[in-house]
Amino acid sequence: MSSSARCVPVVAALSACVLALAACDGGAGSGGGSGGASGGASGVGDPYFPEAGNGGYDVSHYGLTLSYDPDGGRLTGSAVVTARATADLSAFRLDFVGMEVAGVTVEGSAAEFRRDGQELTVRPSDSLAEGETFEVAVRYSGSPRTVTDPDGSKEGWLRTGDGALALGEPVGSMAWFPGNHHPSDKASYDVAVTVPEGLTAVSNGELRSRKAAGGGRTTFFWRTAEPMASYLATVAVGEFTVTGSTTRDGLPVYVAVDPTQVVASRAVLARLPEVMEWAQDNFGPYPFSSAGAIVDRPGDAGYALETQNRPVYPGAPDLPTLVHETAHQWFGDSVTPKSWRDMWLNEGFATYAEWLWAEDEGGATAEQTFTGLYEHGVEEYADLWDFPPAKPTSAAHVSDKPVYLRGAMVVHRIRQTVGDDAFYDIVQGWAAAHRHGNADTEAFTAYVEEAAPDADFDGIWSDWLYGEGKPELP
Ligand code: TRP
Ligand code: ZN
Repeated sequence: MSSSARCVPVVAALSACVLALAACDGGAGSGGGSGGASGGASGVGDPYFPEAGNGGYDVSHYGLTLSYDPDGGRLTGSAVVTARATADLSAFRLDFVGMEVAGVTVEGSAAEFRRDGQELTVRPSDSLAEGETFEVAVRYSGSPRTVTDPDGSKEGWLRTGDGALALGEPVGSMAWFPGNHHPSDKASYDVAVTVPEGLTAVSNGELRSRKAAGGGRTTFFWRTAEPMASYLATVAVGEFTVTGSTTRDGLPVYVAVDPTQVVASRAVLARLPEVMEWAQDNFGPYPFSSAGAIVDRPGDAGYALETQNRPVYPGAPDLPTLVHETAHQWFGDSVTPKSWRDMWLNEGFATYAEWLWAEDEGGATAEQTFTGLYEHGVEEYADLWDFPPAKPTSAAHVSDKPVYLRGAMVVHRIRQTVGDDAFYDIVQGWAAAHRHGNADTEAFTAYVEEAAPDADFDGIWSDWLYGEGKPELP
């Protein structure tokens, strides 16, 4: 799959390329959303992460061939990105941070490239015409970076006691492969990871094969056929106890657990099939072709993440977290936000799933949880009313309590307004309408209004979704 053999000469030509690009591509596409003839824009105009993603093309597939050495922390890789030009392009950009780039080809021919911050600008030897499908291959190596988010959390490439863990929300995936790293551009993936024998490499989708790679190494071939946003891509390298099974519906389940976590996580993981069935009853058909979990050690990451098919848990998950990450497979992974402003569509629904689970299990009803939060939530969550869920204050706040809790309260206000039957129709209809796609807050409010034309949601949108301060209850 790698076309690396054809791009050897690029290294010698490099310094000339860099100068040529700087001269003729200076300033192309800085900021704006449209891809110009000279180069695709450096971002897609995300209000919170303006440099994330790129203009001028749409990726359909990533073919990643990676080799990792846990002792040295070194990753060697090639990324073959298949994309369609959405504008005439004499140059375009990929997001990529750290690592050394050894060469870039476009359609098999060496291409000039330049790096500037997170932007890898590629100038193909032949310009690309709007509508053209092309393949860009990037060869790279180095020690991938751990990225610190605006909120202080760590993502990107995390080294662990026995390997590594790649997490990408919101912008960490650009630390381990070049791409169009914005949730609005989803693609299918083939990920091959070679690791020392005895270690396992886990990723999204299904394990197609595993083969001896020679030199005491093993290659794991993973395939994700359904569209995936790059922030949901993962690779976990380490010692894992793997359990493969199938649900009653015949869905393959692949669960990889760090040996030190097997005992502590057994009881909760045994309930995954039950949680999946419950989620399908509530949210509609499961959107992907396999499921599972990756359980690493408690310190390996600071949070759980809804990586597609197979959420990552740092240490044995508790049941609410298992429910939360499972719900994300519908809300976030299948129906993906159009921009990071729409984060509450992920976290509000995943949090509301926890409330529903508790209610269905005979615990607090969602109404009780809502009322408790409304009356006393701020005592526990001081920032609860700091900003409306659909308008986080800044990138540092996209995972704050108003996005999760007040987001879930918006969902509950809809349920209060329409009643249970219409509510579950709305939830399932929304998941079905945008299955494997992207959606924003405006699409959501429009969907709800259309689904319940006799109800009045104006106050919910103006006060709960977009309004500052603690809303009044009717
Ligand atoms: N999405 C994760 C969850 O709730 C939490 C998370 C991790 C997150 N990193 C983030 C949320 C970055 C927003 C931004 O399961
Ligand atoms: Zn979440």
